[in-house]
Amino acid sequence: MTDLTVTCRSQWPGRPERVVPVAPGTDLFTALREGGVPIASSCTGQKVCGRCLVTVLAGQVGAPEADEQRVLDRAGAAPDERLACRLAPTPGLVVTAGYW
Ligand code: FES
Repeated sequence: MTDLTVTCRSQWPGRPERVVPVAPGTDLFTALREGGVPIASSCTGQKVCGRCLVTVLAGQVGAPEADEQRVLDRAGAAPDERLACRLAPTPGLVVTAGYW
């Protein structure tokens, strides 16, 4: 059982937020998949494809490490975007993806 959750906000008007539980030690990519929230990927969470981008709307996340930054740069990510498969959820984290 976990008290940590992540809030997934749709960019489409009228769609409700989804609150997904996060098991201890779980990255955001895994938490979203386990919570039934679709997350793009062509490397199944292996941290190389750059397709699992999410926009961080709220919450404190550390700066990306150099290897994540290289993938973000290659993917053309905006400064507020991160790789879900590299992101360790923190309390108050709210994210969105363009296709939610
Ligand atoms: S799932 Fe491929 S980089 Fe995150």
